[in-house]
Amino acid sequence: MSAGAAAMAPAPVIAIDGPTASGKGTVALEVARALGWHMLDSGALYRLLAWQALGQGVALDDASALGRLAEVLPLSYTDHGLMLAGRPVGDEIRQEAVGVAASRIAALGPVRQGLLAMQRAARRPPGLVADGRDMGTVVFPDAPLKIFLTASAASRAERRYKQLIEKGISASLPGLLQDLLERDARDTHRALSPLQAAEGAVAIDSTQLDISQTVERVLQAWRRQGG
Ligand code: C5P
Repeated sequence: MSAGAAAMAPAPVIAIDGPTASGKGTVALEVARALGWHMLDSGALYRLLAWQALGQGVALDDASALGRLAEVLPLSYTDHGLMLAGRPVGDEIRQEAVGVAASRIAALGPVRQGLLAMQRAARRPPGLVADGRDMGTVVFPDAPLKIFLTASAASRAERRYKQLIEKGISASLPGLLQDLLERDARDTHRALSPLQAAEGAVAIDSTQLDISQTVERVLQAWRRQGG
């Protein structure tokens, strides 16, 4: 490749997709740190939009109103995370009710379309680690490494429970398991950008792995790739 062509090549992306509470967010953050890359938590965009819709009384099935809201919200994604009108977005979007609402609006075409450009704009040198449901299939189909991260539903519910309790957000384990199974079903069976492993994705089951072991698997896959 000539120097000019190399300069034009888009920044590399490691796409990490998987079901809710599979540890994608923490793993993506650690992989980004290890490589010195940027990070995109795409779920936070869907959560923030859902949170705003709940606050503004926009119906969660009003596709065109939600699409418009996605376009006008003064959102930006920086290395310090998601900002709304220049102010950092905090744990208010991490509540389970917001996650459930996010998964409802994420099935709507105008919502997905309205959030696409911002996700793609996060791709900057030296590279991007992006986590979500459709990073490898739709948003960055040319990502040189795609990971599909899963874990059993029971272990994901337990992890989510611990995370929420640590943040001081009250939760019930059976309720979380139920929400998680419903969310998996909705994310997997929707018509648009359903949760599925991208072609060529490296599958990692983290049920028996801790975060650092899972991060190491991703980094190994990247090194095997020649990265
Ligand atoms: O990853 P997280 O649980 O924060 O995402 C919240 C919801 O947003 C998911 O259940 C999913 O429905 C939706 N989502 C999506 N596509 C993405 C990221 C999240 O549909 N790339």
